[in-house]
Amino acid sequence: MQAPIRVEASGLAKSYGRQSVLKDLSLAVLPGECVGLLGGSGCGKSTLLRLLAGFQEPDAGTVRLDGRPPAEIPAGTIGFVPQDDIVHLALRVESALSYSARLRLGESADLQTRVDQTLDLLDLTPRRRTRISRLSGGQRKRVSIGVELLGGPGLLFLDEPTSGLDPALEEHFMELFRSLADGGRTVLLTTHVLQSLNRLDLVAVLGGGRLAWYGPPSEMLSWFGVREAREIYSRLTSEGAALASRYASSSWYRDLVLQRLGNSP
Ligand SMILES: Nc1ncnc2c1ncn2[C@@H]1O[C@H](COP(=O)(O)OP(=O)(O)OP(=O)(O)O)[C@@H](O)[C@H]1O
Ligand SMILES: [Mg+2]
Repeated sequence: MQAPIRVEASGLAKSYGRQSVLKDLSLAVLPGECVGLLGGSGCGKSTLLRLLAGFQEPDAGTVRLDGRPPAEIPAGTIGFVPQDDIVHLALRVESALSYSARLRLGESADLQTRVDQTLDLLDLTPRRRTRISRLSGGQRKRVSIGVELLGGPGLLFLDEPTSGLDPALEEHFMELFRSLADGGRTVLLTTHVLQSLNRLDLVAVLGGGRLAWYGPPSEMLSWFGVREAREIYSRLTSEGAALASRYASSSWYRDLVLQRLGNSP
């Protein structure tokens, strides 16, 4: 397995046509951290993940993974589980993982061991011979995650990995992501789940194309002055830009973004 990766983004901007989605967004994630990305639908979470993974180029700003542009990072270092599953429905679970492992690692001696370990890690061993089309949404999502884990990535992106799951399963998944980070990976995920945020090291909230908050989950509600996380969403729509400006002048921003990026005054 590879070492966990450090993620740094400075001054990212991204527009689609005339629609400006991200504006001067900076972020820093330390190796092995588990970070959640929150914000209203269409605020740019998936876009930000794709920029950080190097799947898309920003209009302005830079992304560095362990100090290097994403394009220079060796294949297999980054795992990316997209919002929509792309696993082949007709395959059985074990075959899907074996094919992916062969594609990623070539014919290697420990291929079967890796597949077995991944099945185990994701509680899929009892389902190894089941066709993916017969799995539940949550089980299918675990296969998608397994496919990305096979190469032993040091950085794992998950775009809405918990959408469509029941609350108990959501919590279970958040625990899984926590353990993936604890096992030596940097994990970045987008989520609408608000119950299990305390499993994350840091939460980033996007508002007005910038960070409206980036800090520990335990401090988030008091920062926004709300009692429940869902109250934040309506404020993001109406005052996103003001919230981002307020955050940019906070000591949280100084300590968790500027200082980490080496831009501290
Ligand atoms: N390839 C694209 N071409 C044009 N516009 C796009 C493209 N991808 C995203 N957008 C637009 O950019 C905005 C941000 O999209 P993005 O998918 O990043 O949001 P999101 O926060 O992930 O939303 P959701 O929570 O619904 O997944 C949206 O208004 C979307 O319509
Ligand atoms: Mg999205």
